[in-house]
Amino acid sequence: MKKIFESEIKSNVEVAPNIFKLEVDAPELSTLAMPGQFAQIKLPSNEFTLRRPLGIASTIGGVKIFYRVVGRGTSFLSTLKAGSTLDILAPLGNGFSMHAQSKVLLVGGGMGLAPLLSVAEKIREAEVLIGGKNKAEVLFWIKEFSHLPSIDIIFVTTDDGSYHYGRKGFVTDYLPEILTADKYSAVYTCGPDVMMYGAALEAVVNGLHCEICFERRMACGLGACMSCSIDTVNGRKKVCKDGPVFDAREFIEPEKF
Ligand code: FES
Repeated sequence: MKKIFESEIKSNVEVAPNIFKLEVDAPELSTLAMPGQFAQIKLPSNEFTLRRPLGIASTIGGVKIFYRVVGRGTSFLSTLKAGSTLDILAPLGNGFSMHAQSKVLLVGGGMGLAPLLSVAEKIREAEVLIGGKNKAEVLFWIKEFSHLPSIDIIFVTTDDGSYHYGRKGFVTDYLPEILTADKYSAVYTCGPDVMMYGAALEAVVNGLHCEICFERRMACGLGACMSCSIDTVNGRKKVCKDGPVFDAREFIEPEKF
């Protein structure tokens, strides 16, 4: 059930160039939020009227949110210090089903790793395929995932090959090999659309259940404005209300491949 939380910032630190980790004190939200759900944050300034949609990345020891500074709103958010208060409308959206009975493969690119971190905290067994532009953009994710008991293996790709323990290229280049080498009950993916569609297609043609978590710009976040609508095989849907998590078969018809 969504509510407005007045939450104090515990920390707001840069973990990679232009990428911040925000921790807020919100114990009730920690218990309510399901992996994949998001928050609409009102910035404490009259300059900003619309709330900012940000995925909830972790609910252990406080609510954690990762964001990239991409415009005036996130730039302002990055200046806020511990002790400031945020008005947070959450939890919103549906979240991952979390029905998988055995090992799940998490496939994420860039800031799409955030909701998958939340899945890894709550699931019994998982492996994760992390994709990023360069070493700096994957190192902090590796650190976040590596201490979770559910995580067996971390696979890594970087666009420029700068992380030497990983592969050079995209997650979709590495994924077929990973799916062939091990057995998974499902694939959960979040990141750029082209990456998710590629990962979802690979999963679905391999007979695996796959869920896609969309990142979209949102005005209301409540299903009222249509600013987040997308095309599915079942017609137009709203990412904020019908998602952000969808069954991959809403986008991919395996019989066509
Ligand atoms: Fe308004 Fe989704 S953001 S309908």
